[in-house]
Order: sequence, then structure tokens, then C-alpha cells
Amino acid sequence: MYLHCVLILLALFGIHVSECLQCFNCQNINDPKSCTGQVECLNNQYCFLQTVHSGNEVLYNMGCQNNQLCSSFVIGRSVQTRQQNRCHECCSTDYCNDQLCAHREALACLNDPNVDCARLNTLLDVCSDASNAKKICPQFCGLCSLVDGNWAEWSQWSTCSVTCENGTTTRSRTCTNPPPSNGGLNCGGPAVDSQLCTNQLCPVHGNWSGWSTWSTCTETCDIGIKTRMRTCNNPKPDRFGDNCFGDATQFILCLNDPCSYRNGGWSSWNPWLSCSVTCGMGMRIRNRTCTNPIPSAYGKACVGDFNDFAFCVNTPCTFVSFNVHGFNLLINNVNAFPVTVSNVGNAYNTSDGHFTAPVTGVYYFASQFCVYSSNTIIFYIEKGNAAMRSKTRLTSTRGYDGSTGCTSVSTTVKLNTNEHVWVLMGSQYDSASVFQGPTDWNIFTGTLIQQLD
Ligand SMILES: *[C@@H]1O[C@H](CO)[C@@H](O)[C@H](O)[C@H]1NC(C)=O
Ligand SMILES: *[C@@H]1O[C@H](CO)[C@@H](O)[C@H](O)[C@H]1NC(C)=O
Ligand SMILES: *[C@@H]1O[C@H](CO)[C@@H](O)[C@H](O)[C@H]1NC(C)=O
Ligand SMILES: *[C@@H]1O[C@H](CO)[C@@H](O)[C@H](O)[C@H]1NC(C)=O
Repeated sequence: MYLHCVLILLALFGIHVSECLQCFNCQNINDPKSCTGQVECLNNQYCFLQTVHSGNEVLYNMGCQNNQLCSSFVIGRSVQTRQQNRCHECCSTDYCNDQLCAHREALACLNDPNVDCARLNTLLDVCSDASNAKKICPQFCGLCSLVDGNWAEWSQWSTCSVTCENGTTTRSRTCTNPPPSNGGLNCGGPAVDSQLCTNQLCPVHGNWSGWSTWSTCTETCDIGIKTRMRTCNNPKPDRFGDNCFGDATQFILCLNDPCSYRNGGWSSWNPWLSCSVTCGMGMRIRNRTCTNPIPSAYGKACVGDFNDFAFCVNTPCTFVSFNVHGFNLLINNVNAFPVTVSNVGNAYNTSDGHFTAPVTGVYYFASQFCVYSSNTIIFYIEKGNAAMRSKTRLTSTRGYDGSTGCTSVSTTVKLNTNEHVWVLMGSQYDSASVFQGPTDWNIFTGTLIQQLD
């Protein structure tokens, strides 16, 4: 077997590398650590450790395999160096399979038996170059516990530094797998890595152009206006960017020389407006304007009143009031007061005892009856239609007196045109109970307070 092994002495400080490995060699075992079989590999062969899933069980195969099939799970020991520091494997560093080195043999920190370390150090100060010395004279140079640093895994890429357009994303790693110790080398290469990240384009917020110059005055004499403008195109808003804020146009007054000294003149009067009241006497108004001509900026305003007033008389207002007296009890218990003291507007009918509203409005009514001693009298003021249906009782009273006496009621009510009001007695009283003396003891009176149409 040794015939296949090639020992290469790389210069004086080179590494004494054996490309022949001695590997553990077991098939379908449950625990890699339990493997005791060993095999020496051919040149260009490496050790492997393969997991085999068999049902729920995990089994391991270990042995030699061709270099080109090398996977990361390979472990073994150099025949020559007898596994001095680290597991040998086919990855680029000594540490890929650190976890699997658990079943390596106890660390033997031995000098290369082919090298005379004392002499080498005297001649060439070999111990001062730890990276070489640890390989050939670790024990002599006191480097048995030297550990070179090795990078841990990269972190995740950070989120992009910006949310739109180009930014950077970074990732980092630490020299902690393991960290260097006892004179070991630091990790080489950068600890931080960055790269471009590209997002969608950023929104463009609008910005005003500069103001234009002021326009010329709108008038050549008197007062005019000058304007200037700006546009939201510096840049125009795009991709949901903000619009420009503020006014796009500005105005200022410009004072020129007087056009002329044109004084104002009155227009003709506008037509009279309608009367302020719908009945009776009121006021009406008309106006005029100082527009014939309009005074120039420096001319005189019109002198005099803009408004003109006059009295106006509309259709006469409706006057309704009555005052009737006496006792004439009809068969339907309505008292038709027979004596008319006044009946302005003729709204009270003495034949049927009805008051008929000539206009819609608010009315006031009162009534009084008197009784002989020890008599009782009941009467009501009611409203309704001509047939005395749809009645509403507006008042009630019940008069009684030990001696002769009177009782009265009054009410205010809104009536529509043609509604009727009457006085209804509680029953067919006769002259034995109703005191009739002079007619003015039993009365009914009413008046229109406010017309509503
Ligand atoms: C973003 O990066 C790309 C690639 O480097 C480049 O072509 C592009 O011009 C960049 N865009 C901006 C807005 O800087
Ligand atoms: C808007 O435009 C003016 C004039 O060009 C410039 O001075 C200013 O910086 C711009 N502002 C922004 C937010 O682009
Ligand atoms: C003048 O009267 C018209 C109606 O004829 C009215 O519209 C206008 O408001 C009045 N003007 C003033 C200043 O009172
Ligand atoms: C008064 O009433 C009677 C009976 O309802 C009626 O015949 C008469 O026409 C009425 N008089 C007036 C002036 O309405």
C-alpha cells in the first residue's frame, strides 16, 4: 500500500503532507464512534462517512472513496502524521467536519519525525513563523494549543437600506468558528459583504417652476391688475408623488394715471317692489344705482339716495267682531243670541246661532250665562262645520249659585275659512232657570285677532 503513497516535502518550510489517508472502515453501524475497523486509502482517495436511512434507523458507512466523489462528510487520519491536530478531510479547511472529529484519537501534538526541530529553529528561527511551525514542530515550538481562527456562517442579508431605487444590503460574519487562540491566525478576508439592492423607482414630488414675470397691467389708466404665474413642472409629480402646494397665480393691483375725471350718474329708478303688507297700509321701496355712468377711479360718486320709499294701501284688511246678547235656545240646544250689539263683517247669524270664519286666522271668543238661585247651568263653546259635525269642544263650564249669579268662559282658537263656532247648552233650559232680565246678562262675543292668509 505504501507504494501508492507519495510523500511530498515541500521545500524546507513546506508541509510534510501525506496524501495517503488511513480511514475508519465500517458498514451499516449505528454509531460512527463505535467504528474500530481501519483501512489505508490509495493515493487520491479520501475518507467518507455516509448516512443511510433505513426505516426509522440511521446507519453509517465509513471508508475510502475516490477524491472526485468527495463530499463534506469525510473524515480520516493521515498515515504519516497520525492525526496530529485536526481531522483530515477533503474540504478546503481543517474544520469542515470538526464535529466528526469527535472519534479521532487523542490529540498527539508531535513534531514531524523527519525534521530536527531544534536545529531548524537555530538555523532558521522556525518557531517565529507559527503558521508553518505548527505543522512541522508544534511540540517543539509550544504550539500544541494553537488554534487558527475560522469564519462562522454569514448572517442573513440585511433588508435594503432604502425602500425605493438603489440601496445596499449587507451581511457579516464573525471569526468565531473557532476564534483564534494561543497565537493562531485571524481569519482572512472581509467580515462584511455588501451588494446592490434595487427597488421600484421612487415617487417624484412636484415642485414649482419659478414665477413668470408680472404681466402688463390690465388697464392703461386708472386701476388694473397684474398677474404672474408658475407651473408645477419642476419636476411634475409622478408615481403618486405630492402635488405642488400653494397658488399657481398671484395678483397685484396696478395704479395708472387717471383715465379721466368722469363723475358718476344715477341709473333710472328700478320698479317699485311690492307693498310691505298684504292688507291695509304699508311701505314700498325702489332703488337705483350709480351706473349711468360708473364714476371713474378718480371721479365723483353719485350724490343722493340709492333707495326711495312710499306709502302703499293694499286691499282693506278684514275686520271681524261681534257682540250678541239674549236667550233663544234652539231645538238643538244651540243658543241663537237674538240681540245684536255689533256684528262687524256679519259673521254671526242670529237665526242659527253660528259664527262663520270669513278668513283663516286666530280668533277670540267669550260667553256668559246667568242662573236663578239654586239652579245649575252647563254650556260650551264649540267649533265644527255648518252641520255641526267634526266638532271640537273649546270650553266647558258649569254654573251654580245659591243666589242669582253668572258663569263665563273664553278661548282663543285658530279657524280656517268657513269653520263655524257656536254656544251649546247642556240641555233645554228654560226661563225658569236661565236668568234673562236685561238682555246683556247672557252674551256671546268674538273677534279676529290676526288674519293668517
Ligand atoms: C441603480 O443601479 C443600476 C445598476 O447599477 C443602474 O443601472 C441604475 O442607473 C441605478 N439607478 C439609479 C436611479 O441610480
Ligand atoms: C424646487 O425648485 C427650486 C427652483 O429650481 C429649487 O431651488 C428647489 O431646491 C426645488 N425644491 C425641490 C424640493 O426640489
Ligand atoms: C335694488 O332693487 C333690486 C330689485 O329691484 C334688488 O334686486 C337689489 O338687491 C336692490 N339693490 C340694493 C343695493 O338694494
Ligand atoms: C243664517 O242661517 C239660516 C239657517 O241656517 C240661513 O237660512 C240663512 O241664510 C243664514 N243667513 C246668512 C246671512 O247667512
